[in-house]
Amino acid sequence: MKEIKIESTLYVYDDITDLPEDVSALMLKAAEARKKAYAPYSNFLVGAALLLDNGEVITGSNQENAAYPSGMCAERTAIYYANAKYPDAKMLKMALTAGSATKLTTEPIPPCGACRQAIAEYEIMQEAPIEIYFMGEKGKVVKSNSLADLLPLMFDKSFL
Ligand code: THU
Repeated sequence: MKEIKIESTLYVYDDITDLPEDVSALMLKAAEARKKAYAPYSNFLVGAALLLDNGEVITGSNQENAAYPSGMCAERTAIYYANAKYPDAKMLKMALTAGSATKLTTEPIPPCGACRQAIAEYEIMQEAPIEIYFMGEKGKVVKSNSLADLLPLMFDKSFL
């Protein structure tokens, strides 16, 4: 038996004003999208904004359903639409902001496992990293240089 250590490097910004200008603008678009979330069951609102290399920004928010598992996260709403609309564009940066409708969320909220897997698919397909920035409603912003840093031991097409 041998031990394997897996390391990822993430970067933490004090708040949105600390981000590079293009990223804070992207995060503001994610915040706009968050306000449009349809989340009557969880009251947890998530917004995503995805910058493409053609200059387009695709936004998404979580869309819930009375049949709970039929709902969809903000990240996948945005990323699936982006690839449906612009299949030839590369995805450069994704900004995420999330918060409860009932209390202020100040801790950075990372993308769920299913969304990491979905984003990974496009990162692998385009052979270029997607930067991920995530935050609560206020406070610190965490940056990952690549989705791969958020999903060690990812399952991908090479196993099929
Ligand atoms: N949610 C997202 O939109 N993205 C995530 O990465 C985590 C969770 C949504 C799904 C559901 O509508 C609500 O947040 C509570 O889980």
